[in-house]
Amino acid sequence: MTELKNVRFEKDGAIAQITIDRPKALNALNYETLQELLYCFGLLEKAREITAVVLTGGGEKAFVAGADIAYMQELDAMAAADFAGLGHTVMTAIEKLPQPVIAAVNGFALGGGCELSLACDIRIASENAKFGQPEVNLGVIPGFGGTQRLPRLIGKGLASELLYTGDIIDAAEALRIGLVNRVVPADQLMATCREMAKKIASKGPIAIRLCKKTVNTGVEMDLDRANSYEAIQFGQCFASKDQKEGMQAFLEKRAADFQGK
Ligand code: HXC
Repeated sequence: MTELKNVRFEKDGAIAQITIDRPKALNALNYETLQELLYCFGLLEKAREITAVVLTGGGEKAFVAGADIAYMQELDAMAAADFAGLGHTVMTAIEKLPQPVIAAVNGFALGGGCELSLACDIRIASENAKFGQPEVNLGVIPGFGGTQRLPRLIGKGLASELLYTGDIIDAAEALRIGLVNRVVPADQLMATCREMAKKIASKGPIAIRLCKKTVNTGVEMDLDRANSYEAIQFGQCFASKDQKEGMQAFLEKRAADFQGK
């Protein structure tokens, strides 16, 4: 892919920012946009110099207002299932990225947009953000993982209410039910996310990568297996120079100089 039309990919030192940028359609996810996101995640997969990612929506109003309804309208059952499958590939790619991804939710995060935020590691919302899974209003169910990730994040009861009523909730309610980590004024959203990304990027890159992998793999296991998995990944850290540097720096009462090796 040589040209990105609907997505912007920017790098600033160890931080990457991905902006879904179709503001006229409130950044709705069509086939092309999902492909462009996958392309960006492919770049990140190989970008060892990047240690944290911020994902946001272009324009003033929306993070992502959902999968593109105009695109989906004419799909038959097979094509719709394929489209959902592509969405799942994108969401899973986020979870498997070596870098933590912070969703900077700057407005509507509905349907596929809410699902996109759920695949991210951390969600920070602006005060004007709105969340919901309004698919039932369209005669469909969520298809990018909302029926699965939402109950895992906020619990089955609260998730069921959002999924069955299609209600749209504001940022304060999203914070109350644990759907977002923080709510900040709109004009502080990107600075807050970048600050958190920078803080993450200042840690040992190998530790961050293994930590994300262990969280995302372990939550799908029973506790005994997950703890064993954690022990193996903990051991992996000791094969790195960063572990030696981190512990030595502590004992020498100085800041660690992590090299990601
Ligand atoms: C396509 C969309 C869109 C979407 C908004 N637009 N959301 N286009 N798909 N999901 C377009 C509108 O058609 C309009 O285009 C422009 O963006 C601005 O939107 P308005 O509706 O005029 O804005 P506003 O009145 O402020 O209302 C904002 C809104 C509303 C409340 C967010 O747009 C809305 O309800 N959107 C749909 C939300 C939704 O149902 N999402 C779930 C989709 S299903 P024009 O050309 O008229 O200016 C889904 C399934 C995922 O996500 C799984 C798939 C497998």
